[in-house]
Amino acid sequence: MSQQVTVTEHILLHQKMIPGATGQFTRLFNELVLSAKIIARAVNKAGLVDVLGFTGDINVQGEEVKKLDEYANRILIHRLSRSGVLCAMASEENADIIEVPENFPRGDYIIIFDPLDGSSNIDVNVNIGTIFSIFKRRSNSDAALLSSDVLQKGSEQVAAGYILYGSSTMLIFSTGDGVHGFTLDPSVGEFILSHPNIRIPEQGKIYSVNEGYERYWDRDTKKALSYFKSPKNALRKPYSGRYIGSLVADFHRNLLYGGIFMYPADLRDPKKPWGKLRLTCECNPMAFIVEKAGGLAIDGLKRILDIEPEHLHQRAPFFCGSAKDVQVVQEIFEAEA
Ligand code: AHG
Ligand code: MN
Ligand code: MN
Ligand code: MN
Repeated sequence: MSQQVTVTEHILLHQKMIPGATGQFTRLFNELVLSAKIIARAVNKAGLVDVLGFTGDINVQGEEVKKLDEYANRILIHRLSRSGVLCAMASEENADIIEVPENFPRGDYIIIFDPLDGSSNIDVNVNIGTIFSIFKRRSNSDAALLSSDVLQKGSEQVAAGYILYGSSTMLIFSTGDGVHGFTLDPSVGEFILSHPNIRIPEQGKIYSVNEGYERYWDRDTKKALSYFKSPKNALRKPYSGRYIGSLVADFHRNLLYGGIFMYPADLRDPKKPWGKLRLTCECNPMAFIVEKAGGLAIDGLKRILDIEPEHLHQRAPFFCGSAKDVQVVQEIFEAEA
């Protein structure tokens, strides 16, 4: 431990460099880190304690809720409410904005999270995660919170990150100044800086998409896929296909190895031509991180971080990863537009 930097030390060091910093962010982050450790403990024992399977409820997304979705959501709401620095929270699992209980102190931060990402992988011991996106309210602290405080563009995020419950537990985040990765040392219960200043390779060799749904995609997405599989692409050989089905895990692999993740629009229901992933709790935080690491994230034509959210559970097509790979997709969409 002597030479090692813990996540708390890292945050405190960086905070010192920010003029006017009040310590509020550190308090929020401490609760996030504690939540991550509590959820990681449940994930590690998942087959032994009663957290596998469904609760029997259907969430606002129309999905069957898993016990671990519900557990992670409860832990995050409970801990983050106690940070004393939030005015509101929002979760993939809750239809509406979650107010901080009356009897708790409040602050100017807003956090939006996907408590448990990759729910379909919980029961089979495959990587899952937690994703978070942090904003500061725009309206005056004393006035009533406005929906525009919660529905800000991704470019307004003050921090974003994710926790990956994998072969080890990792916390990756950015406060705007680089992307840093910390690995949980279970023997001391601390996240230790293991991946400082992560940069995504400019071009990858991997594409990640649920190819089973290709027949439901638009022409441009099909064209993009055939580019990545073609031996005539910039790489001069087909990319490897890798798809775990947990955004956090697919994103993390591509962040370190390079590559492109795609969850395109799905045209099977003409009333719902948007993608599956949620703009506020999934696309925005991942887009923030990938850009801070030198990559790109678009919905086909537009930068994800420039989309003005209209409602909390809005979805967006999502193409994200190495800059050159995402540019190829954008050029295909622009040519057809
Ligand atoms: P969640 O478990 O939070 O609902 O998110 C699931 C998401 C995401 O993790 C993953 O990239 C995607 O769903 C997988 O969807 P498909 O099964 O349609 O490929
Ligand atoms: Mn879900
Ligand atoms: Mn998710
Ligand atoms: Mn989820």
